[in-house]
Amino acid sequence: MKYLKITGEAKLEGKVEISGAKNAALPLLAAALLIKGKCTLTNLPLVSDIKTMLRLLENLGATYELKGHSVTIDSSNVFNTKALYDIVRKMRASILVLGSLLSRFKSCEVSLPGGCAIGQRPIDLHLKALEKMGAKIELVDGYVRASGELIEANIHFDKISVGATENTILAAVYAKGITTIINAAQEPEIVNLCEFLIKAGVKIEGVGTSKLTIYGAKELKTDFTCEIIPDRIEAGTYLCAAAITNSNVEICKINPEHLGALLNKFDEMGIVYELGKDYVRIKSANNIKAANIKTSEYPGFPTDMQAQFMALCLMADAESIIDERLFENRFMHVSELNRMGANITLNNHIASVKPSKLQGTHVMATDLRASSALILAALVAKGTTYVHRIYHLERGYENLYEKLSNIGAKIEVLEEAE
Ligand code: EPZ
Repeated sequence: MKYLKITGEAKLEGKVEISGAKNAALPLLAAALLIKGKCTLTNLPLVSDIKTMLRLLENLGATYELKGHSVTIDSSNVFNTKALYDIVRKMRASILVLGSLLSRFKSCEVSLPGGCAIGQRPIDLHLKALEKMGAKIELVDGYVRASGELIEANIHFDKISVGATENTILAAVYAKGITTIINAAQEPEIVNLCEFLIKAGVKIEGVGTSKLTIYGAKELKTDFTCEIIPDRIEAGTYLCAAAITNSNVEICKINPEHLGALLNKFDEMGIVYELGKDYVRIKSANNIKAANIKTSEYPGFPTDMQAQFMALCLMADAESIIDERLFENRFMHVSELNRMGANITLNNHIASVKPSKLQGTHVMATDLRASSALILAALVAKGTTYVHRIYHLERGYENLYEKLSNIGAKIEVLEEAE
């Protein structure tokens, strides 16, 4: 197994090009199952979660051709409607094929994704919505067995859920009639999914708002291309890397509008940056002031940036309060950061983060975003840090080590001794 060796007290400089958004590419790949022919996605992030999803599509009978960062998927001959536990357990977003398979084939079996490091992550909202659209849902041997002709429905989510919104949109595509979703998630990744479906000929109203109206279609277009939006979480991670090391770095190929909540906090913290049309350049981050956050659904502060932001707050001049409101176990980076000398105390879903001097040591990654927080801490710590279990990172950050080395980080990938 590989691990990282990172030299601390780094000074970074230069430009980082951001890849396509993993969390947009995954629902788009699930949407490709609705197309009875070919479609192409560009700006595809080459990360392990995407490779897992492509393997799942192949397993279902689709074929794909990968050329650089573009992939053409052909779902003409999808014949298998069973998404196996072995793949779904590796990548819980596989549950998104449920909406597509059910809508197109009127029956399918998808393994329950199970929990994950950051929380239980149930799919009750997904299943309730599909039942309201007329699906018969059974849970048999750890699988969701869904069947039935989907019909229009008014879905009112009790709670905002990205995945449940996505699965319901996908299910509504071939459903009879007009489906409305109230209290829909408004993440940019959902807008990207709607863009894809509109290119396929689906009529959708309210894109980007909390009320979506999807008009069921009989046939969809084929042979079209959809570009995947830039990864706002990857961008935010590199912005924090530049800020935590007080470096002058340009993060480019992004949509700064998707980073409003983070940049608003940077303003509060006195971090100086230049805002461009498709880039943000961090100019300086001397004397970082403390800032408090509550994670919430878009356009609020993203939970996927909570760990990285916490690492940055360790450099602030006073106590910052971080309130994690979306997931019940998303503080696993805290014990590892405290092993580096951080002064963080937890009280249920609230973290108190005090100014800290960090010292390099051996740390262990636990989940995708917690891992990137350890990298940020390692860049600024005194001495050398060794980050173990880095397969978590490779799920969502394309060419992370090269991108960091290219802006001056001293980072080596080594092999664990047997
Ligand atoms: C998506 O997960 C993202 N994953 C997550 O990113 C992200 O953290 C999350 O949205 C919140 O923004 C992908 O897009 C692939 P939710 P998702 O359904 O859809 C509860 C990363 O690091 N809930 O919006 O699973 C749930 O337990 C990952 O890239 C139910 O109770 O998130 C959570 O507390 C991590 N019942 C809250 O809602 C349900 O049926 C938000 O979950 C569904 C969700």
